[in-house]
Amino acid sequence: MSAFHTLYSGLDREGPGLPGDVLWALDRLGVSGGVRVCDAGCGSGADTATLAGALHEATIEAVDLMDHLAAEAADRCASLANVTVRAGDMSNLSGPYDLIWSAGAIYFLGVTEGLAAWKPALAEGGAVAFSQAVRTVPDDADVERFWADYPALTDLEGIFAQTRAAGFDVIDHRLIVGAPWVAYYRSLAAGIVALSTDPDPELQAVLEQSWTEISNWRAAPDRIAYALVLARPA
Ligand SMILES: C[S@@+](CC[C@H](N)C(=O)[O-])C[C@H]1O[C@@H](n2cnc3c(N)ncnc32)[C@H](O)[C@@H]1O
Repeated sequence: MSAFHTLYSGLDREGPGLPGDVLWALDRLGVSGGVRVCDAGCGSGADTATLAGALHEATIEAVDLMDHLAAEAADRCASLANVTVRAGDMSNLSGPYDLIWSAGAIYFLGVTEGLAAWKPALAEGGAVAFSQAVRTVPDDADVERFWADYPALTDLEGIFAQTRAAGFDVIDHRLIVGAPWVAYYRSLAAGIVALSTDPDPELQAVLEQSWTEISNWRAAPDRIAYALVLARPA
């Protein structure tokens, strides 16, 4: 296992987000009953489990590129009869799905490219809910420092434009800011502390890098955010 995976395996999730975000999206999109849902880029399956808990009659498929994360998600959801998890590439989903949920993962495809790839996999009336890093304020040195390795960073209007460019309407959005990041970084910090005496220099470099990320977030916790965007084909 790489040093990165040593630190990140065992975290509750791989990015900020809370069950309430999933429930808000289901409510706003009117998703209920025997629907077909995909958790694209599911990571270790935190949201997959929330989706399954909220949608007992649904069929839920979760997919992640990384074998070890798909395996963690499969373990987490082992007792949930309506969930299947597979390792695979979310850029070629077959569907049809009434909802594609994707937390913190569309970035790897690009918002427009990812939505365009998912469109054919949506059932009639289907929707996508995705979260994506967003610039909440212009010209803020702390925010720019935090997102320095994230060249695709844009503001809400930029994300909406990328969504529309894929032929989607924006239905609603909300910011993921504050508490979800506290929870995420609290678990990451606990992992750093637990591994802090490990002699592996490669692992120590990863711990240092992650600690810097947490410190940078602490400089602007009210301005570092994801946008959770709900969209449907126009
Ligand atoms: C920031 S993590 C978010 C994981 C999870 N959704 C969460 O919120 O905890 C992004 C995930 O996207 C996955 N990913 C990246 N590119 C992918 C692809 N082409 N197909 C499937 N998964 C991908 C990564 O392996 C990673 O687990």
